[in-house]
Amino acid sequence: MRVDADPGHHAILVRSLHEPNAKLVDTVLATDALRRAGASQRTLVAPYLPYMRQDTVFHPGEPVSQRVMADCLRRCFDRVVTIEPHLHRTPRFADLLPGRALTAAAAIAAWLRRQRGPVVVVGPDEESQPWVRSLATAAAMPWVVGRKQRLADRRVRIELPPLPACRSALIVDDIASSGVTIAVAARALARANIGRIDAVVVHAIFARGAEQRIRRAGVRRLLSCDTIPHHTNAIGCAELIATALGYRPPRNG
Ligand code: R5P
Repeated sequence: MRVDADPGHHAILVRSLHEPNAKLVDTVLATDALRRAGASQRTLVAPYLPYMRQDTVFHPGEPVSQRVMADCLRRCFDRVVTIEPHLHRTPRFADLLPGRALTAAAAIAAWLRRQRGPVVVVGPDEESQPWVRSLATAAAMPWVVGRKQRLADRRVRIELPPLPACRSALIVDDIASSGVTIAVAARALARANIGRIDAVVVHAIFARGAEQRIRRAGVRRLLSCDTIPHHTNAIGCAELIATALGYRPPRNG
């Protein structure tokens, strides 16, 4: 690997770290090359930051991968900018890393305002409540959150509260990996006689079989933010990141 950097310049490395095991090593090597080339500051823009969900030891013998990742990136970068890093039990991003954790709520709300309403916005678990409330409120839509219990890797139970009178629902979540959470939420909505169910996720990880699982559960439209390249990408986050980096697009005329 070789980087061509101007000494004294601020280097911004943009890399979505899905498929992390393949990407982390060269990301770390690039920071060393940038430092040696004289970059005055190194910022990592990782729209998706991996290993953030394992924020505690759920079962004896497990690592706390969130901390391991943070320690590694802190040694390499002066600043990390990411989107929805799933910090449900870590109160502040600053406790993990210098930089910023951005929210995609406003981008999703802007997309939602352009859809035909009314739609009840559904978060699968109580942890998602502040996020779901803020995006639904910005889109002037009713919202609920379910109570989710994860029984095993691919088994979850979701109970929904009484739903407002709506024929359509939009499930929103920060990540879809196995797709089980969205599929179980969709089945619960179908049992509650919701006629049309769509889903939007921020990070489209979609492990093998996830999309089929979600479709089989009755989700018609499945969309995502573009933090991970995927054919479901429909909501752009570039402007959000550019603004966080202090970039102001030139005014027309
Ligand atoms: C959990 O708290 C997250 O917000 C997601 O609901 C979860 O990680 C989704 O994973 P999966 O698609 O494997 O159910």
